[in-house]
Amino acid sequence: MLAVQADGHEVTTVEALASADGELSIVQQAFRDAHGLQCGFCTPGFVVTLTSFLRDHPEPTDDEIRSALSGNLCRCTGYQGILKAARLAADAGRRP
Ligand code: FES
Repeated sequence: MLAVQADGHEVTTVEALASADGELSIVQQAFRDAHGLQCGFCTPGFVVTLTSFLRDHPEPTDDEIRSALSGNLCRCTGYQGILKAARLAADAGRRP
């Protein structure tokens, strides 16, 4: 989205996802554990998009995850680590 389209809205960046004491969010930890981390351009987008998606869809199918992340592009990888991280985060979020 263009920055002007966010005018008047609250914006959450990747820096806000970890706790104040530095504990990673479920999604951040999943990316770390599943080797889903890529570069500093695409990874924040994947992490923020997935965080928002899982908030609204706590029990997604793999196809729903792929669809949710389809607007985030990385031409450097095959996405397997990212999708594995997304599945891990979705499953971790379901635990009590
Ligand atoms: S690793 Fe980030 S755009 Fe490819």
